[in-house]
Amino acid sequence: SSRRNFATRLCAWHRRHGRHHLPWQGTRDPYRIWLSEIMLQQTQVATVIPYYERFLERFPDIAALAAADQDDVMPYWAGLGYYARARNLHRCAQVIVNEHGGRFPPSSAQIAALPGIGRSTAAAIAAFSHGERAPIMDGNVKRVFTRYFGVHGYPGTRAVEQRLWSLAERMLEDAPADLDMAAYTQGQMDLGSLVCTRRNPLCDACPLEADCEARRLGLQHMLPEPRPR
Ligand code: ADE
Repeated sequence: SSRRNFATRLCAWHRRHGRHHLPWQGTRDPYRIWLSEIMLQQTQVATVIPYYERFLERFPDIAALAAADQDDVMPYWAGLGYYARARNLHRCAQVIVNEHGGRFPPSSAQIAALPGIGRSTAAAIAAFSHGERAPIMDGNVKRVFTRYFGVHGYPGTRAVEQRLWSLAERMLEDAPADLDMAAYTQGQMDLGSLVCTRRNPLCDACPLEADCEARRLGLQHMLPEPRPR
């Protein structure tokens, strides 16, 4: 039951308590979703919103971005930091135009082969744009899974990361066939950033509390384990 209820409880929680009105949530355009996910990788939602809107006004689609000079793109990123993200974004738009006929490739596996897009970001883009059943595992979601399943070890190691991905795959296999993948995906991110926080997790407000291994053992403050030193 701790496996069967996971996705259902997350979706129900997301409907009531998750984020619903972010500027990139009203679209299924993979370009817009991709842009938002890259901006959100190392930057808070509130900071991203004005950058996202300015960027889209200047580069409304993949063709506009691919046709621009990189020097023309960087000013729209100035202040967001991690400038490799912007350079990859621009290169990626050119790959999509040159190798994919200007259309975003549909499957998460193809998306993950593009420059600067990892497995988790690729899965989020595919889930939000057309409901592909692909698991995510970003920093916030790692925290949810390490606690829920009581996974020890530093999540930056290959072995722990593998274990977390396989748990995420299993949660999707056990989920209902009609699972709302956008709600499930956003729900995991939102639970990790709003409830299952690094310090002072709000376990009383968590839809997964009844089956959470860390909560059962009182280890929620000890997991995920820090980098060994
Ligand atoms: N971080 C990465 N993707 C996100 C999203 N879709 N919503 C909120 N935070 C995120």
